[in-house]
Amino acid sequence: MRSAVVAGDALYYRYPGSVAADDVLHGASLAVAAGEIVLVRGHSGSGKTTLLSVLAGLLSPARGTVTVTGTDLGALDRGARARLRLAKVGFVFQRFQLIAALRARENVELVLRAGGVAPRDARRRSLETLDALGLGAKAERYPRELSGGEQQRVAIARALAKCPAVIFADEPTSSLDSSSGAEATALLCALARGNGAAVVIASHDERIAPFVDRIVSVADGRCG
Ligand SMILES: Nc1ncnc2c1ncn2[C@@H]1O[C@H](COP(=O)(O)OP(=O)(O)O)[C@@H](O)[C@H]1O
Ligand SMILES: [Mg+2]
Repeated sequence: MRSAVVAGDALYYRYPGSVAADDVLHGASLAVAAGEIVLVRGHSGSGKTTLLSVLAGLLSPARGTVTVTGTDLGALDRGARARLRLAKVGFVFQRFQLIAALRARENVELVLRAGGVAPRDARRRSLETLDALGLGAKAERYPRELSGGEQQRVAIARALAKCPAVIFADEPTSSLDSSSGAEATALLCALARGNGAAVVIASHDERIAPFVDRIVSVADGRCG
């Protein structure tokens, strides 16, 4: 396999306050190469969100290692891990988590600015990315003025705009009706592929399968 952009090896994770029998991840391993799109499937509660969160450095595993573009996240302190995430990792959250008080364009700009992009460049890149997702005409709207599918595309634009090495998308179609979620996910895959990013999507939506290179199942805390 080409060298992995993100690699989790023998990961164990247990939520605080639970016991060993409740290990959510129990020796899970997954490596994803540049330009590769992987779909993570598994029943509700199987640990998909937990796996993505650990691979993205949002949760720290009890055991096992995660490397992102070759850097071992376990060797970094919180601040360094946050900076690495900002530079290398895009995350599309299940409920989008847009900032209600900011326009679509500003939601995307905020992440770019935090990563050190100059204001004018951040605005240009934000508008370009929203345009690529078909939202050029709605860039000045607030999240509440957008449909669910449009909010999802803003969340995707926010994750994509910084051209991260790896993008995670957690159940991107679950809070949307009809085909808008699958369409937006197809766009995410096409744009990420163009950038050579690694993509990890957690979903049980069969409509996503045609867009991906590989399907992995999570069960009993492991990836199969
Ligand atoms: N914050 C939390 N605290 C305690 N247990 C949690 C927490 N989040 C998830 N869990 C538990 O961890 C397991 C895996 O959850 P999750 O990773 O969200 O699964 P999935 O995304 O596949 O539905 C479930 O049993 C769930 O109840
Ligand atoms: Mg989940």
